[in-house]
Amino acid sequence: MLWTFLTLILGLALAAHGGTTEATSDPCAGIAGQSFVVPGDALACLKSFPFNETLRQNVLTVISRVFDFYTFEDYYLNSPPPFQESTTNIRADIARINSTSYATDYDFNRAVYDFTNQLNDGHTRWLTDCYGTFENLLPAPIVTLQENGAEGVYIIPDLAQLIPLVGTEFTDYYASIGFNWERLAGARVLQIEGQDPYAYVDYIADTASGNYLDHGVRVNSVFSSYRIADTSFSQRFGDLAGTSFPDQESLTFNLILANSTLPETVTVPFLAIYAGNNFTDSASYWGNNCAANNATNGVDLLASSGLKEREERTRRLARAVIVDKSQTSAVGLPDPYLPTAPPVNGSTGVIKSFVLPDNKTGVMFVGSFEGDYVQFQTDTQAAVAAFQAANVTRLLVDLTNNGGGYVCLGEFLHSYLAGSNFGYTGFQSSSRANPLAVKIVQADIAKGITANISYYAPDNCKSRAFLNDTEMPEGYDYNDPSVSLFINGQQDADSQRFHDLCTPYNVDLPENPPFDLRYAPFLHPVNGNCASTCSMFSTSMFERHGTKIAVFGGKPGEIMEYKGMAGNQVLEWSDIDTEIKTAGLKNDPLAPPDLLVSGDFRHNWRTAWSYFDESRPIAYVSEPAPCKLCSARAELDGSLITIALDRYPYTKDTYMNPQNLWTFA
Ligand SMILES: *[C@@H]1O[C@H](CO)[C@@H](O)[C@H](O)[C@H]1NC(C)=O
Ligand SMILES: *[C@@H]1O[C@H](CO)[C@@H](O)[C@H](O)[C@H]1NC(C)=O
Ligand SMILES: *[C@@H]1O[C@H](CO)[C@@H](O)[C@H](O)[C@H]1NC(C)=O
Ligand SMILES: *[C@@H]1O[C@H](CO)[C@@H](O)[C@H](O)[C@H]1NC(C)=O
Ligand SMILES: *[C@@H]1O[C@H](CO)[C@@H](O)[C@H](O)[C@H]1NC(C)=O
Ligand SMILES: *[C@@H]1O[C@H](CO)[C@@H](O)[C@H](O)[C@H]1NC(C)=O
Ligand SMILES: *[C@@H]1O[C@H](CO)[C@@H](O)[C@H](O)[C@H]1NC(C)=O
Ligand SMILES: *[C@@H]1O[C@H](CO)[C@@H](O)[C@H](O)[C@H]1NC(C)=O
Ligand SMILES: *[C@@H]1O[C@H](CO)[C@@H](O)[C@H](O)[C@H]1NC(C)=O
Ligand SMILES: *[C@@H]1O[C@H](CO)[C@@H](O)[C@H](O)[C@H]1NC(C)=O
Repeated sequence: MLWTFLTLILGLALAAHGGTTEATSDPCAGIAGQSFVVPGDALACLKSFPFNETLRQNVLTVISRVFDFYTFEDYYLNSPPPFQESTTNIRADIARINSTSYATDYDFNRAVYDFTNQLNDGHTRWLTDCYGTFENLLPAPIVTLQENGAEGVYIIPDLAQLIPLVGTEFTDYYASIGFNWERLAGARVLQIEGQDPYAYVDYIADTASGNYLDHGVRVNSVFSSYRIADTSFSQRFGDLAGTSFPDQESLTFNLILANSTLPETVTVPFLAIYAGNNFTDSASYWGNNCAANNATNGVDLLASSGLKEREERTRRLARAVIVDKSQTSAVGLPDPYLPTAPPVNGSTGVIKSFVLPDNKTGVMFVGSFEGDYVQFQTDTQAAVAAFQAANVTRLLVDLTNNGGGYVCLGEFLHSYLAGSNFGYTGFQSSSRANPLAVKIVQADIAKGITANISYYAPDNCKSRAFLNDTEMPEGYDYNDPSVSLFINGQQDADSQRFHDLCTPYNVDLPENPPFDLRYAPFLHPVNGNCASTCSMFSTSMFERHGTKIAVFGGKPGEIMEYKGMAGNQVLEWSDIDTEIKTAGLKNDPLAPPDLLVSGDFRHNWRTAWSYFDESRPIAYVSEPAPCKLCSARAELDGSLITIALDRYPYTKDTYMNPQNLWTFA
C-alpha cells in the first residue's frame, strides 16, 4: 500500500490508516499546496480518515478525566438564569458520544467539539488540530447598525476595503466564478437562509459561537467588529462570515443593495482558507496535523528529559484567555478606519493609547492582556504619563474583543488606575480539590516542587496568598482541609480560598489614582466580547469603583451582559499533564493517558468568586446592560455611587471606526 509505504518513510506511527483510500483518489492530495480551497473539497479531505475506536477511547478518556478538574462542572446541571441555554449533563454527553456511531474520525471530533463549544466557556473546549485547519470565509460579513432611528442587519459597508486584504487568491477566485461581491457593500439584509436576520444570528450564536455564557455577548461575536490582533488593528469577520469548519458551501441572503430599493436574493459562496501545516496527501496531512507531536502532551519537569523545557520556563504565570480561531488568519483594519489622532508613547504593544482631538480625553484601547508581560506595564505607565502631560481629564478604556491574558496584568491595570493605596484588586480564588488534585499538591510538597515549575505548587499564582494577603508558605497544603461546595444538588470538594499576590510589579504604581475614578467619567466601551482576564478586570472596576460601562451592539431590545466569560485561570492539556507527570502521578488510575492525536483539551482550572457575593463565581453573576440603576449594589466608602450600564447601537460612523466610537462615547 502506497500510503503505508509513505508513512514508513516519514517515520510516522499511523500505518494502519491505509486501505480506505486509493492513491489516485486521495482527496487531500487534490488540495495539497493550496491556500484557498472550495469548502466541499476541504471537507472531503477532512472526512477521508475513518472512524477509529482506539482514538475515540483515548480522546474521551482524556476529556473525561480532565473534566474532574473543571471548576464549573456542577453549574452546568442547571445553569442559573440568564445562562440557562448552556445547561447540560457533561457526563451524559460523554456517554452519548461514547455510544454513538460515527462514519469518520472527523464526525467524532466534530461531536466532541460541538459538545464542548456549546458549554459556551472559551476556557473549556476540545480544540482539534487535525480538523481545525480551515476557516470558511464568506465575502459578506454582517453588522447590526442603527440607521434613521431603526436597527437592522447590513452587509459591512467597508466590504470593498476589507475583502482585498484577504489576498488576491481570495478575490481572484470570486472573479473566476463571476461572483460580484463588491455590490453587496452596505446592503440591507432582510433574510438569511429564509429567516429573519436576527433569528439567524441567534441560531449562529447558539450553535457556532461558543466562548461566552451570555447569549447576548455571543450575538455580538456573530457580527464583524474591530479589534487588536496580536499588536495591530484588525477587523474580525464575525462568526457568520468566518466559520471554524468548511462544512457550508454558501449562504443565501435576501437583501436590498445600498443604491437600490428592490429586494433581491443572492447566494454567496464560501471559500476556505488553509492555516494548517503543509502536506502533500492524506498520509502527510495526518502526520503533520493530526498525529500527536512532541508538544501535544506534558513532560515531567523533574526528569532529565524535561531539562530542556525546564530551562526555557520562567516562573509559571497564570493565564486566562479564550481561543479565537479567527486570530490565525487575521486581516488588518482598512486604513480609512484607523484612528487619526496620533498614538501616544507606549502604543507599540497590545495597548494603543491616544489623546482625542478635544485634548480632554485620553483613550487606552487595551487589545488583550497577552504578549510582553513587562511591556504591558511600561506601556501603561507611558500612556498615563502622556495623558497627564496633556492634561486630559477623562479616561476611556476600550476593551472591545479583548480575549484576556495574564491574570496579573488585569490586576496590574486595575491597581495602576486605582493607586497602590487601594489594596488588593483581585478576587478570592479556588481550584477543585478532586482526589487527583489533592494528590498533586501533596506530591508537590513532598518533592519540594515550587512555583518555577508548577501551577499547583502552594507558592504559585503568581504567589498564592491567604485572604489577609500574607504569602502562602512553601509546603502549605491548601486542600487540607478542603471546603465543601453544594451546587445543583451535588456536593463537591474545593480548595481553600486564596488571593493572587501579583506584587511587586515591574513598574512602580502611583499611590493614588491618576484619574479620579469617582468624579471623572471613566468608561469602558466594550462590545461584551471581553473574556477571561478582561472580564475580571472590567468586573472588578465595576464592582469596586462603580465605573461607567457602555455596551455597544447586540440585538435590538435584548438585554446583554457587559462581560464575557470570567474564569480565573485556564490550563491547557499539556499544562495539566505536566503537573501530573512532574508530581510523579502519571500512573495513578485517575490520571488521563497521553493524547494520541494533536489537540488541546483546555479547562477552566480556577474559579474567581464575585466581590459582591462570595458564594457565586463571577461567571454566574448577571450584570446586564441596560441597567441604569444598579446603584444599591455599590456602596463604597460610605457613599453611594450610581452605576450606569448602558447599551448603544453601532452606526455607520462607529461600527468599524474606533476613534468615532470613542468620540461618541
Ligand atoms: C487506530 O488508531 C491507532 C492509534 O493511532 C492505531 O494504532 C490503530 O492501528 C488504528 N486502527 C485502525 C483500524 O486504523
Ligand atoms: C465507553 O463505553 C465503553 C463500553 O461501555 C466503556 O468500556 C468505556 O470505558 C467508555 N469510555 C469512556 C471514555 O467513558
Ligand atoms: C450600485 O452600486 C454598485 C456598487 O457600487 C454599482 O456596481 C452599481 O452599478 C450601482 N447600480 C446602480 C443602479 O447605480
Ligand atoms: C508550505 O507551503 C507554502 C506554499 O507551498 C510555502 O510557501 C511554505 O514555505 C511551506 N512551509 C513549510 C514550513 O514548508
Ligand atoms: C519538537 O519538534 C520540533 C519539530 O520537529 C523540533 O523543532 C523541536 O526541537 C522539538 N522539541 C523538543 C523539545 O524535542
Ligand atoms: C488641542 O491641542 C492642539 C495642539 O496643542 C491644538 O492645535 C488644538 O487646537 C487643540 N484642540 C482643542 C479642541 O482645543
Ligand atoms: C515619550 O517617551 C520619550 C522617551 O522615553 C520621552 O522623552 C517623552 O517625554 C515621552 N513623551 C510623553 C508625552 O510622555
Ligand atoms: C498642562 O497644564 C499645565 C499646568 O496648568 C501647563 O503648564 C501645561 O502647559 C499644560 N499642558 C498642555 C499640553 O496643555
Ligand atoms: C525552582 O526554584 C527552587 C527555589 O525556589 C530551586 O531550589 C529549584 O532548583 C528550582 N527548580 C528548577 C527545576 O529550576
Ligand atoms: C494570615 O492568615 C493566615 C491563615 O489564616 C495566618 O496563618 C496568618 O497568621 C495571617 N497573617 C497575618 C499577618 O495576620
